[in-house]
Amino acid sequence: MTTIQWFPGHMTRAKRQIQEKLKLIDAVIELLDARVPHASRNPMIGEILRGKPRLVVLNKADLADPHSTERWIAAFRGEGLDCVAVDSAGGRGVQEIPGRVRQLAAPLFERMKARGVNPRPVRAMIVGIPNVGKSTLINRLAGRGAAATGDRPGVTKGQQWIKVGGVMELLDTPGILWPKFDDPAVGLRLAAIGSIREEILNLEEVAFFVVKTLAAKYWDALAERFGLEGGPPDDPDDAGRIVDVLERIGRKRGCLAGGGRVDLEKASGALLRELRTGKIGRITLEEPDEFR
Ligand code: G4P
Repeated sequence: MTTIQWFPGHMTRAKRQIQEKLKLIDAVIELLDARVPHASRNPMIGEILRGKPRLVVLNKADLADPHSTERWIAAFRGEGLDCVAVDSAGGRGVQEIPGRVRQLAAPLFERMKARGVNPRPVRAMIVGIPNVGKSTLINRLAGRGAAATGDRPGVTKGQQWIKVGGVMELLDTPGILWPKFDDPAVGLRLAAIGSIREEILNLEEVAFFVVKTLAAKYWDALAERFGLEGGPPDDPDDAGRIVDVLERIGRKRGCLAGGGRVDLEKASGALLRELRTGKIGRITLEEPDEFR
């Protein structure tokens, strides 16, 4: 996993790099993580893209709750943004993208046609925060191991177009965006899915957030995975009850410290590993109605 420490200078440079490339393209593919579509979004995206048509793509949909994904797609469409869910690693849904992007650029192509300009493939670029799956999607669309993987603002390889099935041309380097760090809830969610360095946040704090969210929304999956008896904590706002669940998880995974006590840090690590690899089930950590 690559992680970038973002500083204001990096953000300015990343923004400028994307805006320079906007001149070359007709439409943008905004890549988000289907498990945290809000937290994985750049706070300035509208301003950065300056009204360029964009398709929202919810990636890693294989790891997300399909019902939540449906709700997120509806929410984005309600905002007037077309949206599709994909699994770039497995390939599912990816074939939808070129046609949708072509559709977004339809008005532009109509105008070109009216001026007698010959039709050409739609030109697009992918933008998203680190680790959201930009390189994986580029490779998948390219159909070969072709994507550049320089994942650092300031590093630009020679610009190349990747041809995608005759209808689309894709810039081979994605635009790298930063997430909204100043909101602690965003940091917790990105840490939960493994998109930001754990050292930045306290591991136990991240696990506490995960247990609380899963106990409220996915208790059955959590209980089944870790063999937890009984129902969810009756008072989810009682921190002691949440820690108790984490301790039970730790005990099941043999994360013990001296004197038979549970090593909460190890328990947190075990929980997060199983969450991120989908072992607990398909889980989405935020819902669109939290942001209305
Ligand atoms: P980036 O260019 O946006 O930084 O992301 P990249 O493609 O490198 O993908 C980050 C990780 O996410 C990779 O895991 C990749 O395999 C995984 N990934 C990308 N798309 C999907 C998807 O649709 N579904 C699933 N399940 N995984 C996806 P990795 O190589 O194991 O990296 P890491 O675990 O070391 O971070």
